Amino acid sequence: MSKKSTTKIPEAETTDFGYATIPASEKAGRVRAVFDSVASSYDVMNDVMSLGIHRYWKDRLISLISPDTGQHLVDLAGGTGDIAARFLAAGGARATIVDINLEMMMAGRNRPNLMDRAGLEWVAGDAEAVPVASASADLVTIAFGLRNVTNRDAALKEALRILKPGGRFYCLEFSRVRSRPLGMVYDTWSSLLPAFGEVIARDRESYRYLVESIRRFPDQETLAAMMAAAGFSRVKCLDLSGGIAAIHCGWKLD
Ligand SMILES: C[S@@+](CC[C@H](N)C(=O)[O-])C[C@H]1O[C@@H](n2cnc3c(N)ncnc32)[C@H](O)[C@@H]1O
Repeated sequence: MSKKSTTKIPEAETTDFGYATIPASEKAGRVRAVFDSVASSYDVMNDVMSLGIHRYWKDRLISLISPDTGQHLVDLAGGTGDIAARFLAAGGARATIVDINLEMMMAGRNRPNLMDRAGLEWVAGDAEAVPVASASADLVTIAFGLRNVTNRDAALKEALRILKPGGRFYCLEFSRVRSRPLGMVYDTWSSLLPAFGEVIARDRESYRYLVESIRRFPDQETLAAMMAAAGFSRVKCLDLSGGIAAIHCGWKLD
């Protein structure tokens, strides 16, 4: 009897894509396709999916950062520019948005509040190999971006590399709901989002990926441990809306 030959991909070379496990080499391309597809409806869908609450979470992040006139922020996976816009509006001096997806940045550049904004630059680049000089940023942020990155440890190390000593890194991301009743409501709401994606953006699959990627993202404690392992000090976590999202902060001490 002939043996069936199955090609098994070594686990280290695979990664998550929503609930699917795929070769790590394919994730960036598939994530890029998702954001190419959702770019033009991204801002509207963000409001619909979060009932506008993402605005409060982003405002909370900026109030924790407490921007200063001398500070340079690098916002990884900055997309359409929500974090950079808030940072500059709150008094920050300079913001660099780094995103792998040109469509997302083009959608952001067309926003009236960001068109030709002084102090703002848009850079095409990967959070795993950031095209920014070492020790050049006062602050590094990544908002709803880390879960889309293939090698998250590499992205965390890059955030540390580009920070000046004494600089801070903030990650705003979906996390684990702490209470069971809220978790049940949230799960029900999340399960409806692909249908909203279908109706509003004509794209069920991309929104299915986004929901699944949220559910698979590491919880608060695991992400804090990953940041410490990457070399951040004084790592702290703040739950938002009962843990639906969380802000993690870590310092580069030297
Ligand atoms: C959910 S959006 C978040 C955008 C923005 N930060 C916000 O909060 O509205 C995720 C962004 O991550 C970007 N992205 C995904 N993988 C990336 C990578 N490896 N490097 C840089 N950006 C990436 C996508 O292109 C997309 O713009």
